[in-house]
Amino acid sequence: VTPTMSDRSVAGDTAYIDKGQGETIIFIHGVGLNADAWGPQIAAFSKTHRVIAIDMLGHGGSGGAPEGVTLDHYVQQVADVMAALGINTANIVGHSMGGLVAIGFALAHPGQTLRLAVLNSVYQRTDEKRAAVMARAAEIATSGTVGDIEAPLERWFGPRAEQTGIAHDVRRWLSQVSPKGYATAYQVFAASDSVFAGKLGALKMPCLFATGSDDPNSTPEMANAMARETRRGRSLVLAGERHMMNLTNPEAINVALQDLFREQVIDVKDLRKAFGTFMTGVTVVTTRDNDGQLRGFTANSFSSVSLDPPLLLVCISKAAASCDAFAKGPGFAVNILSEGQKDVSGSFASKRADKFADVNWRASPLGHPLLEGSVAWFDCANHKVVDAGDHLILIGEVKSYGHNDSSPLGYARGGYFTLGLEQSAVNAASQAGRAEVGAILECDNKLLVFPSGDKLELPHVGFGQEPATTSELLAFLKARGISASLGFLYAVYENNAARTQSIYYRGEAELPGDATLLDFDALPWERFRDDATRSMLKRYSVERLQGRYKIYSGDHVSGDVRDVGDAT
Ligand SMILES: Cc1cc2nc3c(=O)[nH]c(=O)nc-3n(C[C@H](O)[C@H](O)[C@H](O)COP(=O)(O)O)c2cc1C
Repeated sequence: VTPTMSDRSVAGDTAYIDKGQGETIIFIHGVGLNADAWGPQIAAFSKTHRVIAIDMLGHGGSGGAPEGVTLDHYVQQVADVMAALGINTANIVGHSMGGLVAIGFALAHPGQTLRLAVLNSVYQRTDEKRAAVMARAAEIATSGTVGDIEAPLERWFGPRAEQTGIAHDVRRWLSQVSPKGYATAYQVFAASDSVFAGKLGALKMPCLFATGSDDPNSTPEMANAMARETRRGRSLVLAGERHMMNLTNPEAINVALQDLFREQVIDVKDLRKAFGTFMTGVTVVTTRDNDGQLRGFTANSFSSVSLDPPLLLVCISKAAASCDAFAKGPGFAVNILSEGQKDVSGSFASKRADKFADVNWRASPLGHPLLEGSVAWFDCANHKVVDAGDHLILIGEVKSYGHNDSSPLGYARGGYFTLGLEQSAVNAASQAGRAEVGAILECDNKLLVFPSGDKLELPHVGFGQEPATTSELLAFLKARGISASLGFLYAVYENNAARTQSIYYRGEAELPGDATLLDFDALPWERFRDDATRSMLKRYSVERLQGRYKIYSGDHVSGDVRDVGDAT
């Protein structure tokens, strides 16, 4: 590390500045410069982020580049620094040649690149520009010196060169760089403007490509072209700016970087989880392919679309083996599965060749397989196929349909659920006569209870001759000054000895009324009515922390806990 290099740390061959805490931003400078060239960005972003500005191989305090160095070596340098510091993901920002390194890194390590910013970099130079830069590279290589420092300064700052202290800094950096490191990097820079041609479409993270309107070599056309080719890229052209605009107009560059860093990084796994909170039914979509073979796949992306004309849709992954058969065939049938058909759902979601072997089916009027036991079916002619990302939207026109009274199968958070349980519980209760309907209510994250002597009661109604209902429960709560909303059924259990049935919902209370609120951390277990209540509340206090709830059904000593939560 040379004395002029301020605040450097060292990892392997790389000297770097490391400032601040938070999400990481890696800054990669251009040929002839060093990490200090990011001064205004380091100052601004180290307040909110961990900023790592590296000295490129052969520059600043870093070691030299190996013989026969290619762009890949500079990319590897970034990967090595991140590995050495235990940094898994980072925003990558590069300037000029550093921009090429940044792109190279993002393409080679997409999972580690949160967002990408490329400033004043080059893309597919014109023949004329390429010839000029190659000539400069050859000159630098033969002279073995950095050469005329004033030439790049003139290109980068124009007539402003003498006016700014910035140009003075840049002149100092250029005069201090190792001639060999400079020449080597310059060769790579000169030869690498087209290595990513046609590859930028693979960049899916938020990207910024910025340059100055007066940067003659890293042109606005180049920035625009790069932005166009990436999925989430945008370009920025700063009027009147040249090559060193992160120094000459740091305010504008920092705002643009700030905007980029605020863009949400889409994590596909997490997005799938978010989508999965939408409760759906489950369908099996069927058809016959060209060869008359039966085809089918499980889908929950079903939606009704139009009543007149009658249209529905379902989305099929382009990766599905049967995608072509559905997209190109004359039609398909949609079977809405009933709660007894979880196995059918599983089988049609598999890659088995004989999905139809274990199901009974009949042909629809249009000849598509209709599965026995489904709650509804729609026989469709192919109305339209819409291309949508990694799926196709199949829009079908319903030619005939049917439905029955069985209960549909539900799907949410990666797991199945059934409504039948709730219905049968309520039915059973109304037949048994002696039933209570109660609720585990939360108010301000506390449990709502009614003290009765030295016992604690959960809100409930019933055990009379008439079956209890949720409306009675709500009326009872209202009378005690409690405004509550009931959510899902939480537990159903029978006390065999007393021949009573308990049906408990979970819910929220806005106002506690005359009830008492207890911390879940410190529930006085011994004061609750019985073991069944205690074990239900114990389960609830665990599950509320995880935000997932199961339905319990059984008797007051043993039973089944059914998942309505995330099965994955
Ligand atoms: C509950 C559930 C819902 C699904 N929804 C869809 C869907 O809407 N679209 C889709 O293409 N695949 C969906 N799948 C996955 C397909 O069923 C699965 O990829 C199947 O293997 C495709 O069959 P194929 O490759 O033999 O054509 C779903 C799977 C499950 C379990």
